[in-house]
Amino acid sequence: MTENGKPRELISTETLQRRIDELAAEIERDYADSKDLLCVGVLKGSVFFLADLVQRLSRPLVVDFFQTSSYRGETTSPGEVRIRRDLDHSLAGRDVLLIEDIVDTGYTMRTIMALMGFRGARSVRLCVLLDKACKRETAVQINYRGFEVDDVFVVGYGLDYNDRYRNLPYVGVLDEAEVEEE
Ligand code: IMP
Ligand code: MG
Repeated sequence: MTENGKPRELISTETLQRRIDELAAEIERDYADSKDLLCVGVLKGSVFFLADLVQRLSRPLVVDFFQTSSYRGETTSPGEVRIRRDLDHSLAGRDVLLIEDIVDTGYTMRTIMALMGFRGARSVRLCVLLDKACKRETAVQINYRGFEVDDVFVVGYGLDYNDRYRNLPYVGVLDEAEVEEE
C-alpha cells in the first residue's frame, strides 16, 4: 500500500490502454474474415478489460459471459472448475474469443477451452490481460497476451481480493502482509 491507502501501481492506466490498442488491432486483423465473432468474458474479473477491448473492435460481434468457481478444498481435486453461470448463446459453428483477466495455474482456462471445443465452436482463441506464467501447472495456449507478471498478487482493473479493488483504474500489487491481514 502507498500512503493514500491504495495498492502500489504495477501497470498504469496509460500503459494498459496503449497495450489494449495493440491487442485490438491484432484481433481486428486476425478476424477480418470472421462473420460471427462471439466475445466471451469470464465474470467478474474480465469485465473491465473486455469492455475496453471490444469497444475498439469495429466488426459485428456478440458479447456473452459466464462465471466459474474453482474448488481447491480437501475434498476436491486441485484444479476442479465448475460453471456457476452459463452462456446465453450457443457456440456451435462460431468463432469464440475468450477474454480473461489473468491466467495463473491455467486450470480454469484449460477446462473452459476444452468445454467450448466440445460444444462445437468453430474456433476458440484466448485473450488474457495478465499472464502469471511462473505459476502455470497445466499448459494453456494464449493467443493474445497483454502483460506477463511475476508471482505477486495483483488487483485492480477488474482483478479483486475478496471482491474488492476491482474499480482501481490501474493494476496494483498487494503485499503478502496485506493479503493475510483481511
Ligand atoms: P487459474 O489460472 O485457474 O489458477 O485461475 C485464474 C483465476 O485466479 C483468475 O481468473 C483470477 O480470478 C484468480 N487469480 C489468480 N491470480 C490472481 C491475482 O494475482 N489477483 C487476483 N486474482 C487472481
Ligand atoms: Mg477470474
